[in-house]
Amino acid sequence: MIILGIETSCDETAAACVRDGGAVLSSVVHTQIAQHSPYGGVVPEIASRAHVEALPFIVETALREAGVDWSALDAVAVTRGPGLVSSLMIGMAFGQALALRLNRPLIPTHHLEAHLYALRLDATGEDAPPPEVTLLVSGGHTLLVHAEAWGRYRTLGRSLDDAAGEALDKGAKLMGLGYPGGPAIEQAAAGGNPAAFAFPRGRPAGQAEGPDFPFSFSGLKTALLYRLKASPEDARPPRLADLAASYQEAVVDVLAARLDEAANAVNARSVGCVGGVARNKRLRDRLETDAKRAGRRLTLAPPRYCTDNAAMVAGAAWLRRDEALPPDSPMEPLPRWPLKNHGSNPGGSIVTA
Ligand code: KG4
Ligand code: ZN
Repeated sequence: MIILGIETSCDETAAACVRDGGAVLSSVVHTQIAQHSPYGGVVPEIASRAHVEALPFIVETALREAGVDWSALDAVAVTRGPGLVSSLMIGMAFGQALALRLNRPLIPTHHLEAHLYALRLDATGEDAPPPEVTLLVSGGHTLLVHAEAWGRYRTLGRSLDDAAGEALDKGAKLMGLGYPGGPAIEQAAAGGNPAAFAFPRGRPAGQAEGPDFPFSFSGLKTALLYRLKASPEDARPPRLADLAASYQEAVVDVLAARLDEAANAVNARSVGCVGGVARNKRLRDRLETDAKRAGRRLTLAPPRYCTDNAAMVAGAAWLRRDEALPPDSPMEPLPRWPLKNHGSNPGGSIVTA
């Protein structure tokens, strides 16, 4: 079964063809970084307009690179949420029109389940279960997901304020580095001493209603702000590398520690990491070290499937192929779609956050 995936939830316009949820035949990603970087963050109006302009070419390229004809597609998958509402609408309208024209079913997918599914891509023929606990770290989300099986999830932890990627993006802005901030900080941190500056490893005050393993990154960003107010020269060479390395280390440290605690709490033998921030080499190395020490199996999403892409969308759609809709079904975007109960199959997903 070949599924065409379309992803437009934020600032990447992406299309991919994936066979049977594992073999990536093509994955084309057009990033809008250049359009948004003058503003230091994603501008929703610019993003949706750029999706309109790029989508036809990106989708055609995905088919050409996969070497498949339109008629070989079995279904069209689109990201229904969570994400920027106007950007989601563009991808959904495009996918729906295409499905209608080709007379193929339409599969709405959940962006966070798609990020999780990145762990299974390129694993052709292997029907491995998901890691028991996965750290999902992107620009918009920081989640610890306890998975019983593909499609059955429970949230063990999440950020109560900024997402990890957001903390890196805001920190980079304060340091005068580029957008997106994660890769900019990683680059600036090269050769720097991660212990040069002391940044808080914030643990939010316990909340009766909150998740078991909460994250908080707003204090870290504020600490950087005050540091730079008192000593602006820290954001310039030769001290910048130390500053960036120390800031990055604070984020990595908190993420790795919380994953370890959550895995201990549920006696997990396997852990994973996905999402844009999972591209970070320092984080990947730290998770490897921790997993080895704890004797756990670690699965990291391949770097090219960490940041937003459509291969993970087409993959997650294969998981949800029983929930395919007729192409003319009315369907609104779900910009704040929680991971729980996202399928039309009520027993499917049991996330509680
Ligand atoms: O998953 P993603 O592409 O989009 C969302 O769904 O949010 O994640 C984007 C985030 C941004 O905050 C970006 O700064 C971060 O991922 N990121 C990184 C790296 N590459 C991207 N963070 C740390 N190190 C990287 N190499
Ligand atoms: Zn994403």
